[in-house]
Amino acid sequence: MKIAIIGSGYVGLVTGACLASLGNRVSCVDIDEKKIASLKKGHMPIYEPGLEELVKQCVKDKSLSFTSDLKSAARQAEVIFIAVGTPPRPDGDADLSFVEKVALDIAREITSYKLIVEKSTVPVQTGERVRETIRHHARKGASFDVASNPEFLREGSAVHDFMNPDRIILGVESKKAEAILRDLYKPLKCPIVVTDIKSAEIIKHASNSFLAAKISFINAVANVCEAAKADVEQVAVGMGLDRRIGKEFLYAGIGFGGSCFPKDLAAFIHISEKLGYPFEFLKTVQKINEDQKTLFLKKIEQAIWNVGSKTIGVLGLSFKPNTDDMRHAPSVDIIRELQARGAKIRAYDPHAMPKARQLFKKVEFCKDSYDVCRGSDCLVILTEWNEFKELDLKKIKKLLATPVIVDGRNIYDPKKMKTLGYRYYSIGRP
Ligand code: UDX
Repeated sequence: MKIAIIGSGYVGLVTGACLASLGNRVSCVDIDEKKIASLKKGHMPIYEPGLEELVKQCVKDKSLSFTSDLKSAARQAEVIFIAVGTPPRPDGDADLSFVEKVALDIAREITSYKLIVEKSTVPVQTGERVRETIRHHARKGASFDVASNPEFLREGSAVHDFMNPDRIILGVESKKAEAILRDLYKPLKCPIVVTDIKSAEIIKHASNSFLAAKISFINAVANVCEAAKADVEQVAVGMGLDRRIGKEFLYAGIGFGGSCFPKDLAAFIHISEKLGYPFEFLKTVQKINEDQKTLFLKKIEQAIWNVGSKTIGVLGLSFKPNTDDMRHAPSVDIIRELQARGAKIRAYDPHAMPKARQLFKKVEFCKDSYDVCRGSDCLVILTEWNEFKELDLKKIKKLLATPVIVDGRNIYDPKKMKTLGYRYYSIGRP
């Protein structure tokens, strides 16, 4: 099938490369000519395991190409995915101006039947707007369908997630659109759920909000565990074995970040309110997530008393492991607050340092984890990269000025840390 993907960001690029590898001819489009030029040279704008290899292979096979020419890509494609950004506005509403612009551009190019698929995460009723925009601006008699096909890709395992989905959601209005999308996804073995477009849009927002709620729930439980001197990890195992609850997303920590959960939660709250339902439950989910960072800062103070004039070593900056994404990373608020209180920060992240350098002033970026520890009054863990789990803790103890670790991701065993002579603080564990 001939496919155009409009928007070569995280979602567009992964979707494009994966669909190309499934035997389609895909053209990835972006208005950012610099990005397109760099993609053509094989440079990825993001760190995502497996993506670079896949892109290179597909480009070599000629199944994947990059262009800034939306018009020509749209004209040639049978299916056009809209995968442009929907950034949050200050009030939480999603900014849909890029989606509208793309819909307009597509409308003007339509001469034969096109299936236009929303891939970007959008509030419910956006599909209707896209359809009306295209209908209004397309030539008389132009034929098209609009569909919603939300993605559920996790950063760090996006290629794997695309190829091994739990389910595929097809929000469609016609049998033709359903048949095309079923055909496109035929190589992937998983349940396909066919819905109307609005329900598909809500499935995406509701799924991400539910997962965010699960994280806030376990973080709230962690706070109760701490007060009661119980262990949240044992509680999570005991809860998670109930299949109705499930063990995923029950890891307590310093809260969720990233480009999706905070944004989608805010957008879902906003659209619900606009539709007349104030989603108070989700506002509490947001508040617990924000509070988790404040509680973590208190924990650091509890560990080293006055933060001002101390040197704090930070391991991990990205919002989660296996990505260099710094968007809404808890590290941003935590480091800025520590600096505001007068602390000196030394930090290391295996992949996120280039992006972090643009965000932080006065952070001393170190060459590795051990370098971070040298002379620091305390070591703080903000992202659970695997390499941090394997560090030589005896060596670290010698490098630190005082053997204090405040772990926001529960990567070490408290008993072992005690034996090693550390003062070790983690989340929801005695
Ligand atoms: C998420 C969804 O999982 C994905 O389906 C959607 O398409 C995009 O948003 P992603 O943002 O890549 O993916 O990250 P995810 O792995 O879901 O983690 C989100 C955040 O929650 C991270 O900050 C992570 O550290 C945090 N988290 C996750 C926890 O704190 N505890 C958990 O148990 C799980």
